[in-house]
Amino acid sequence: MKLTIIGTGYVGLVTGACFAEMGSTVTCVDIDKKKIEGLKQGILPIYEPGLESVVANNYDNGRLKFCTALNDSAAESGIYFIAVGTPPGEDGSADLQYVLAVAREIGRHINSYTIVVDKSTVPVGTADKVKAAIREELDKRGVGVPFDVVSNPEFLKEGAAVEDFMRPDRVIIGTDSEQVRKAMRELYLPFMRNHERLLFMGVRDAEMSKYAGNAMLATKISFMNEIANLCERMGVDVENVRQGIGSDARIGYSFIYPGAGYGGSCFPKDVKALIRMAKDHDFEPKVLNAVEARNEAQKHVLFEKIGRRFGADLKGLVFGLWGLAFKPGTDDMREASSVVLIRELIDAGASVKAYDPVSMTAARREFPRAWFDGGQLKLVDEQYSALEDADAMVLVTEWKPFRYPDFKRVKQILKKPVIFDGRNQYDPALLRDAGFEYSGIGR
Ligand SMILES: NC(=O)c1ccc[n+]([C@@H]2O[C@H](COP(=O)([O-])OP(=O)(O)OC[C@H]3O[C@@H](n4cnc5c(N)ncnc54)[C@H](O)[C@@H]3O)[C@@H](O)[C@H]2O)c1
Repeated sequence: MKLTIIGTGYVGLVTGACFAEMGSTVTCVDIDKKKIEGLKQGILPIYEPGLESVVANNYDNGRLKFCTALNDSAAESGIYFIAVGTPPGEDGSADLQYVLAVAREIGRHINSYTIVVDKSTVPVGTADKVKAAIREELDKRGVGVPFDVVSNPEFLKEGAAVEDFMRPDRVIIGTDSEQVRKAMRELYLPFMRNHERLLFMGVRDAEMSKYAGNAMLATKISFMNEIANLCERMGVDVENVRQGIGSDARIGYSFIYPGAGYGGSCFPKDVKALIRMAKDHDFEPKVLNAVEARNEAQKHVLFEKIGRRFGADLKGLVFGLWGLAFKPGTDDMREASSVVLIRELIDAGASVKAYDPVSMTAARREFPRAWFDGGQLKLVDEQYSALEDADAMVLVTEWKPFRYPDFKRVKQILKKPVIFDGRNQYDPALLRDAGFEYSGIGR
């Protein structure tokens, strides 16, 4: 099939590369010229395990192309995927300006029957808006090209995106057209050779499924953080509780890890957008409000612990941070807990030395230049260097090399043997025996 993917970010690039890998001819479009130029030279704009070789192979064999605008080769495509960002607007709603700009662009280009696929996470009712925007452009051109708009939300996880796309748990297709059903089944069947995992439903049902899925996962995290905070006040170790409840098959072990709050480009904005949708329908989303409030508060927990240990004025103190990405396996720092913590530490007068295996470029973009020039924030290129002259170590992202470090070395390097473990990676008793002051979440 000939496909056009518009928006070449985490979702668009993975989608394009994986479809090309399965034999389709794919044009990936992005308005970011630097990104497209880089991709043509084999430079990936994001860190995603396994993606580089899939992109390189398919670019070399001509099945994957990159361009900065819809052009003639893209116009021959029968299926267009919209994969641009839907960031939160002022009121928490998903900002649809990029999605609708792409819809209008598609309306200006298509000449024969086209399927337009919403892969971006978009509020219920967006497919109708996309349809209206395309129709408006076709009307301006005075042509009556037939088209369908289908919702196909993406469920890939950053850090395992290629694997998730290649072996999806399910693919949701929201449409009421038999023609679309047939085309989408043909497109996705190569990804599910052992058994079909396509779920067909109405367009609005599909749009809601994405939000409900992310909100459910965010709820599990916030619930567990709430229990963790309570455990801490009651002399209970939440890690035992986590295992105690995770062993119940109805609950399961995933997404019940206590920590310093969820971040990333999806959960925070999608929970906010769902709250907005509820409010727009005069419905008070009590559970979602609580999920959001708990998470906002949870992002301050590490700083509060540091304050209790070192006082409110942190002038002259240095904190060594391990991990900047919102989770391991990605360079994405959008809404990361590290960002909140670093801002708080610097505002309180402390200096921060930070290390992350892949997020250093993202970190340079995230914080004001003056912090780097003024010396309050230093990024180092090796994990133990972050601890030099530090009064404490803070683990923020549980990358594998941080899970079982050389604690003798850690103790030698740190000025004070103090560890704040924002992801409960370490055994408190072991560290206390080794002479550390240890503080985790909920233990
Ligand atoms: N990142 C994830 O893990 C993930 C997972 C599932 C769903 N989603 C959803 O997918 C969508 C995309 O997310 P992302 O993380 O890939 O975003 P991203 O910011 O990484 O990429 C979006 C890209 O779209 C480009 N763009 C914007 N306007 C454009 C236009 N008019 N024409 C061409 N390109 C344009 C931007 O330059 C950018 O490169 C969002 O709705 C997000 O919620 C993301």
